[in-house]
Amino acid sequence: MVKLFFNLLKTIPVFGPHSIQVAFLASQIAKELSLDEAFAFQAGLFHDIGILVPSEESFLFDDIDSSFLLMKDFSGKPLHLHSILGSFVMGSVPRLKPLSNVLLKHHFPAYFLDEKEKIDVYANIVFLADQVSKYYFLEEITFAEEIFLPLEDIKSFFFENVYKCTRTVLEREHTRWVLEDIKNGVFNEELLEEYLKIPSSRDDLIQMGKLVSFIIDSKSKFTAEHSWRVAILSQKLGSMLRRDHGETLFIAGLFHDVGKISVRYHLLEKPEKLNNEEYEEMKKHIHFSYRILLSERDKDWFLPAVRHHERLDGSGYPFRLKGDAMSTLDKIMQICDTFCAMVEQRPYRSPYTREEAIKKLEEQVMQGKYDKEVFGMLLEVLKDLDVKSLEIGETLRKQLREFTNEVLNRYAPLVR
Ligand SMILES: [Fe+2]
Ligand SMILES: [Fe+2]
Ligand SMILES: [Fe+2]
Repeated sequence: MVKLFFNLLKTIPVFGPHSIQVAFLASQIAKELSLDEAFAFQAGLFHDIGILVPSEESFLFDDIDSSFLLMKDFSGKPLHLHSILGSFVMGSVPRLKPLSNVLLKHHFPAYFLDEKEKIDVYANIVFLADQVSKYYFLEEITFAEEIFLPLEDIKSFFFENVYKCTRTVLEREHTRWVLEDIKNGVFNEELLEEYLKIPSSRDDLIQMGKLVSFIIDSKSKFTAEHSWRVAILSQKLGSMLRRDHGETLFIAGLFHDVGKISVRYHLLEKPEKLNNEEYEEMKKHIHFSYRILLSERDKDWFLPAVRHHERLDGSGYPFRLKGDAMSTLDKIMQICDTFCAMVEQRPYRSPYTREEAIKKLEEQVMQGKYDKEVFGMLLEVLKDLDVKSLEIGETLRKQLREFTNEVLNRYAPLVR
């Protein structure tokens, strides 16, 4: 699961390399302090995940450029919204829960922290690694002094020991050159491999899937709830076949459009039909999904997720597979994805009613694009399921608001 998130980050310009730099540097500092380097790596990797979480009306994460590094860091407050949102995300995934408070405090200066608390030390390590990474992105760094000089100004924000070890670590050419590689998009995966192999349960994956799909779906009001609906609908069809197929398709549904993280926001919202180039870019989300999910290729949900744009008659993409080459689970995912998209509004067309969508799908079944039997299963499920009423976004937003208020109350003196 950590690998999956690592792959996802790699597809986001600036934000991805920044997170990976912080992860690597934090791990090296932790090692120097005889702390858990894998834990520090994860803290660094996830430290800014809150920036991707849409809060209330604002969708922060599209077209992230290096300006986010400046904007969020110079507000002069220890408690940032993205720290709270990140802390919420980590708190909802059992396996990552220990990171929750690290993320919450990753902009706290040392005088708000307690050096005897391990979590506080990790938070301070991430804070310092974050600052170093920022210099890397704003400046060309060749010599260690070019990092040490600006660091001296903010020395008082860090525990003495953390600061000292960071300097030791950065004096090593190896550290600086790896950081430079990461900035240039070279990720030395063999080097990072050991940090990425953290075992996680299916429940962790499902929880992470809910959050990731919430982030993806919230990119545009037109796609809000899409992945969630596909997950629930295909789960119902799957469990008609076999109980555990339901869960398999549920996970596939949550992750199937994860590649949309790379589709530009204005394409999702464009009021006219997309031109040919734009359509190609939109189609390519499946390729990003494939790349991001590839580390999970031995899982039963992988193929249905990455084959949702294939069609029975070979007219789909990206592999142009034909009927026999695909499983029933693949075919279920294809039909559920299309049905959900049809009943959703798109900027250039109004939503189909359920009857219109069924009629349109039936025509395409006749043309040989979708599986007949699976279509029959869909009709069965739709008898007592109103796909449009499925939602998770509002529930999550409510939990987020409660969490945010609770944190703001707890740390009131820090935010005023
Ligand atoms: Fe950061
Ligand atoms: Fe898709
Ligand atoms: Fe989809």
